[in-house]
Amino acid sequence: MSTVMRRPQPLITLGHRGRSASSQPISSLMSLALANPATISLAAGFVDNATLPVEELGTISGELFADPRAAREALQYGTVVGDEDLRRGIAHRYFAVQPERHAERMILTAGSNQFLQLASECLLDPGDIVLCASPTYFVYLNILRDLGARARGVGTDAEGMIPDELEGALRHLATAGELARVKAVYLVPDFDNPAATTMSLERRKQILQVLENWRDRATILLIVDNAYRELRFEGEDIPSLSDLGADPERTVESGTFSKNLAPGLRVGWGVTPEPLYTAMTRRKGIIDFGSPHLNQRLVAGILNSGMLDEHLRRLREAYRAKRDAMIAACDEYLRPIAGVAYDVPAGGLYVWLTLPEGCAAGPDGELWKQALDKGVLYVPGQYCYPEEGDRVATNTARLTFGVQPPERLREGIRLLAEAIRTSGTRGNPEP
Ligand SMILES: Cc1ncc(COP(=O)(O)O)c(C=O)c1O
Repeated sequence: MSTVMRRPQPLITLGHRGRSASSQPISSLMSLALANPATISLAAGFVDNATLPVEELGTISGELFADPRAAREALQYGTVVGDEDLRRGIAHRYFAVQPERHAERMILTAGSNQFLQLASECLLDPGDIVLCASPTYFVYLNILRDLGARARGVGTDAEGMIPDELEGALRHLATAGELARVKAVYLVPDFDNPAATTMSLERRKQILQVLENWRDRATILLIVDNAYRELRFEGEDIPSLSDLGADPERTVESGTFSKNLAPGLRVGWGVTPEPLYTAMTRRKGIIDFGSPHLNQRLVAGILNSGMLDEHLRRLREAYRAKRDAMIAACDEYLRPIAGVAYDVPAGGLYVWLTLPEGCAAGPDGELWKQALDKGVLYVPGQYCYPEEGDRVATNTARLTFGVQPPERLREGIRLLAEAIRTSGTRGNPEP
């Protein structure tokens, strides 16, 4: 009798999607912060705990559950595209032009991240190109990477993406024979993540003009991400790109109730033209048959009650005070360091820091080590740069004033200044 030696079988072998799924760089930063509560995290883009709308949602859910018929409806499956009442409410709140049409082209998703992922998945093949501000929202860069698409950085200034640079990038790609691969331009016009820039009215019109110039030569979708639009602390709201005449057949707009209400609700939305709308609803039908109906009914209740505006007023006040605390600390501790620069954001959750040339702020750099050592966390700016196009600035960092109370913001900035002084400009490895 012969004995056959069998190699142990693996318990599970993943398919290619499972194998290629990479973790978000931010996840490890968040776990670092959670694992060590003494560390002051100026990194994770969480919202302010104290201003979460506990009472408001308590009232709305109380009302909902006091009405058994409405409660049963909310506890039942909804539709793939999401609650009609909420879609209408969103469309009338955020679109001055043709709100009903926007409601019909709207899909409610589990956070706007799901909308951005679904839209990109349905739009892009591996090797397709999306033009993004440089720097841009790093989670979106990860979505593109995951799909095998290419993100190409377009230069920015204090008003976000520079129209001439967009024109230049399109010309460059046309000369290289790659225009057909350019499928979208991704923009966060208000209080961008990470650079906190806001596009002026003029800038918005110029970007639309560049797209118009290329309209007959390329099929480029404009993807507008409005995640922070309502977190304005000062100045007047600037009209959305759609209201400024962006071609509705080539424009996608997304938004979320994560920043203006509560991220735990996971209610996001997006408006998209055909054929993307049908493709996305089909994909969403395969994935989840619709996002949580109950949460959508709660958000609809908040919108219909008029509570959101009152809540926003308090939110803006609270964030303005925290922004002021962070900027005051930056003025005190960081401004005296030669080569440090930052702008004062008019809204959003972030302050974008440019550090002295050669300061190694990346995850393998000296500043990162020193900051961890001293007990302060930031998001290394280099995560936010597309792999192609504009240069990656390793001497940059994103700070958020969303989470920490004012005294911790001040202490965090003091520690960061110490870390910058200690790390100097040593050992900045290439990303
Ligand atoms: C620019 C931007 N877009 C979209 C999102 C996604 O947010 P959510 O999925 O919570 O709606 C975020 C989250 O931080 C963001 O910063």
